[in-house]
Amino acid sequence: MLSWDSSYSVGIQEIDDQHQKLIDFINELELALGKSDNRETVVKVLNGIVFYTKDHFAQEELYFRQFDYDKTDDHITEHADLITQVEKLVYQFEVNGTFDIPNVIEFLKAWLIEHILGADQEYVSCFKENGL
Ligand SMILES: [Fe+2]
Ligand SMILES: [Fe+2]
Repeated sequence: MLSWDSSYSVGIQEIDDQHQKLIDFINELELALGKSDNRETVVKVLNGIVFYTKDHFAQEELYFRQFDYDKTDDHITEHADLITQVEKLVYQFEVNGTFDIPNVIEFLKAWLIEHILGADQEYVSCFKENGL
């Protein structure tokens, strides 16, 4: 299971709350995958992840445009890549009823932490300069 670490903080409460929620979702998925007869829950949690992640990305991207952030394009590309990959996983699960569970969990964890510690940290000074 993944737990929140203060090093993940971007120092903006609203964004930290959203990142924590994403971590909660991944943990929920890991729990659901550990149970048998879990198909319905897994689909529900996966769809929740897609929905909530899109929402979070949209919020960040709104700020990028409002604040005329200089790395907007690269950052949006990273977001779009993740959504594409996760939607592919949801599709695979819906079609096959299964997927490579440990890989999916590790992929989501690695992506999220790498992104929060990397690209997301890069906008902090811009967001703060603009009053967040
Ligand atoms: Fe983020
Ligand atoms: Fe981001």
